[in-house]
Amino acid sequence: MIKLHNHYFKPFISAKQIDNALQRLATEIAEDVGDDIPVFVGILNGSFMVVSDFVKKYKKPCEVTFIKLASYEGVKSSEDIQRLIGLTQNLSGRTVIILEDIIDTGNTLNEVHRIFKNEQVKSLKIATLFYKPEAYKKDYKLHYVGIEIPNKFIVGFGLDYNGLGRNLPEVYQIKETQHMTNIVLFGPPGAGKGTQANFLKEKYNLVHISTGDVFRYNIKNETALGMLAKSFMDKGELVPDQVTIDMLAAEVEKNAQAKGFIFDGFPRTHAQAQALDKLMDSKDSQINAMIALEVDDDILVNRLLTRGKTSGRPDDANESIIRNRINEYYNKTAILKEYYSAQDKYFGVDGVGSIDSITLRLSSVIDNL
Ligand code: IMP
Ligand code: MG
Repeated sequence: MIKLHNHYFKPFISAKQIDNALQRLATEIAEDVGDDIPVFVGILNGSFMVVSDFVKKYKKPCEVTFIKLASYEGVKSSEDIQRLIGLTQNLSGRTVIILEDIIDTGNTLNEVHRIFKNEQVKSLKIATLFYKPEAYKKDYKLHYVGIEIPNKFIVGFGLDYNGLGRNLPEVYQIKETQHMTNIVLFGPPGAGKGTQANFLKEKYNLVHISTGDVFRYNIKNETALGMLAKSFMDKGELVPDQVTIDMLAAEVEKNAQAKGFIFDGFPRTHAQAQALDKLMDSKDSQINAMIALEVDDDILVNRLLTRGKTSGRPDDANESIIRNRINEYYNKTAILKEYYSAQDKYFGVDGVGSIDSITLRLSSVIDNL
């Protein structure tokens, strides 16, 4: 991820993909022009990299020139009519191929056509590395298109955001989601996750997603995903990760305005952690931290036995069952501790003490993210 001025951008199109697209354009154009010697016209400023890399791949004789139009400011294409500078060469009778970095609304193209109308060229063709079909509002034919992209602002490979980013050899796409804080809350049974999650969600305006609750909700309300999950459970099979992830994705979707999420009870496996990263990435976001409440086994056993006396949960009543659950937690989650530690995202927090003091410890981790 990179930051230019006040916006974040994430990697979008690699230098290799750009190179392949330009190679394809060069080959197609060389075939189409036959014996003509084309004049390639780059539209400055954005097209300087496109032209440079393109002509190196164009293996037949050609001429290269540039014209300049007053350019785009900020993240929205301005509707202003732009003025052309620099067409000094007589192009009558020539095969002219415009080389554009990007075609967005088509306003620039409109101006190009207006200018070339009186030039009596033999033919005028348009080639562009990037094209945003959803933004394009004109009827001019685009003869050669490198890569179609969604209608989102990009930078790099000649394209700028308020002057910055032109020098990047690959292309980045703007991140539109406001910055979220997403936490995976971890801890053995009895560590106090539920209690702490309730405080944290209030304090930081986060949405608490407890996988257990999400499952129960979907099954109770017989949602499509709930029924699907149930069909596996009824057969005594594990619910596939994808079903769980789809349920979580639906929860994330429902809370699109959230400042972030607390995931509780998920992920449990390496594959799930990767799936969660993918889900966050699709929301232009990321998991910021795995915070694990650390509590000694003996204390956990005591807490759960006490809870068992009032909750009536059978799995809280028996010490050896409790110890098994705790062991299983450590066996199964070691891999996740490694996964998040490797990304410097693992934070262990002492889960023994008053509820307030533990909330304070958790807060100091979150405040420093
Ligand atoms: P159009 O006239 O709307 O087709 O787009 C004209 C110009 O807007 C391009 O030549 C670029 O300079 C600029 N532009 C359009 N989309 C983007 C983008 O996503 N990033 C950076 N510049 C852009
Ligand atoms: Mg341009």
